[in-house]
Amino acid sequence: MADKPAHQQCINVRCQATFDIAEALVACPTCDSLLDVKYDWDKVHLPKTLSDFNKRWARRDRMLDFSGVWRFRELLDFCDDRYKVSQGEGQTLLQRCDGVGQYVGLKQGGLFLQYEGLNPSGSFKDNGMTAAFSHASMIGAKRVCCASTGNTSASLARYASAAGMEAIVFVGSGRIAFGKLAQALDYGARTFQIAGDFDDCMARVKEATAALGLYLVNSVNPFRLEGQKAIMLRVLEGLGWDVPDWIVVPGGNLGNSSSFGKMFGELKELGLIPRIPRLAVINSSGAPTLDRLVNEKKLTYNGGEFDRQVIVDDFKWQDDTNTKPHTIASAIEISKPVNTTKCLRALEICDGVVRQVPDFEIMDAKAQVGRHGLGCEPASAASVAGARLLVEQGVIDRDARVVCILTGHPLKDPNASVGYHTGQYDPDHQVEGERLYANMPIPVANDLDKIVEAIETKA
Ligand code: F0G
Repeated sequence: MADKPAHQQCINVRCQATFDIAEALVACPTCDSLLDVKYDWDKVHLPKTLSDFNKRWARRDRMLDFSGVWRFRELLDFCDDRYKVSQGEGQTLLQRCDGVGQYVGLKQGGLFLQYEGLNPSGSFKDNGMTAAFSHASMIGAKRVCCASTGNTSASLARYASAAGMEAIVFVGSGRIAFGKLAQALDYGARTFQIAGDFDDCMARVKEATAALGLYLVNSVNPFRLEGQKAIMLRVLEGLGWDVPDWIVVPGGNLGNSSSFGKMFGELKELGLIPRIPRLAVINSSGAPTLDRLVNEKKLTYNGGEFDRQVIVDDFKWQDDTNTKPHTIASAIEISKPVNTTKCLRALEICDGVVRQVPDFEIMDAKAQVGRHGLGCEPASAASVAGARLLVEQGVIDRDARVVCILTGHPLKDPNASVGYHTGQYDPDHQVEGERLYANMPIPVANDLDKIVEAIETKA
């Protein structure tokens, strides 16, 4: 493993301590900042152009060429092939969607949806999990763990059962959608329902990791974020290796946005793309920490010389005032995102913006995504609602080419969908608003005439 041209490095510009790739670290031991995986690009066998990767399509009988992550393996070259754990992740599509584009306010051909719900466990997490598990297997880890709003635990559970490792997951009691809980249980993960929310689970799982020497696969794991870079490669591939104008992504723990920024920074540095797209990170109004930090408190990365105290004070204010996140988009019900600093860096690299959207707009946008044939879970639709807001605000041009990331499959959270269409949300997840695209089920007697009459009667 030592012959791989990669190492870990502290992202704090005043520290920059380096560590071997064989170490399992989730923070810099010196200054507690996040870590990056860095490459010695001169030693990597890079393609001359990104389109060289297309050749791998002809060799899809080989697992690593089939994987939508590992077929770009030179751009995340930290692990020997023999350790790689793949589940055929990343068979996901970038789809042009004019119907949703019209809803967002873009011209024909302007909106693309990157449907990550097609992954093996039904969310984008599998992109990161294959990378984290490959690292775990490379260093001989036996017990893997995470805190989760649901999708990370489902993905971890699936990869752990495939890799023969013990899976330990922490979820907030009553805080995750049943589709996701069902997966974690089915795949055999030991699932601990902590009496608290995601942020509590995250804090406890870090402590448990340290206490028990577990292998943590949350997005503080720098190897996981390397896998998620592949989502952007597939977006570029879907556009014939052209760069879109905007990438719009929901923001929860901020792993995706961080990893997208890193990927675009690297591709530009390597001369593999001519320009970097702009990035929009969308919070739910029920968990708007990033929006508050960036838009109210004007926090910027400032080349790494940012004011850390602003984040510390915000998190403390949340504790002091007992301010808790609450949103129907349970996947992004997170108010102390662990990747805040990396996300600030991504916003700087990509000239990014942050917005928040209310739950009723998220649910309307979700219904639009469903109505136009794709479907997604609530958190994913924040990207579409956010793009719509940004077009309305004139930040995104009407003739721009925009990619929204649909992070999770619609069946992850059927309660939210049925709640929207019937108006009967779960008691803990009521959403105010008109439900503009509700498609109510129609009760009919068990009688052909009545059924015919009902079918012929248009509302
Ligand atoms: N969308 C979905 C469907 C998610 O599951 C998550 C995160 C996000 C968006 C936010 O992504 O953290 O990269 O900003 N879910 C995590 C989990 C936290 O535990 O499953 P992020």
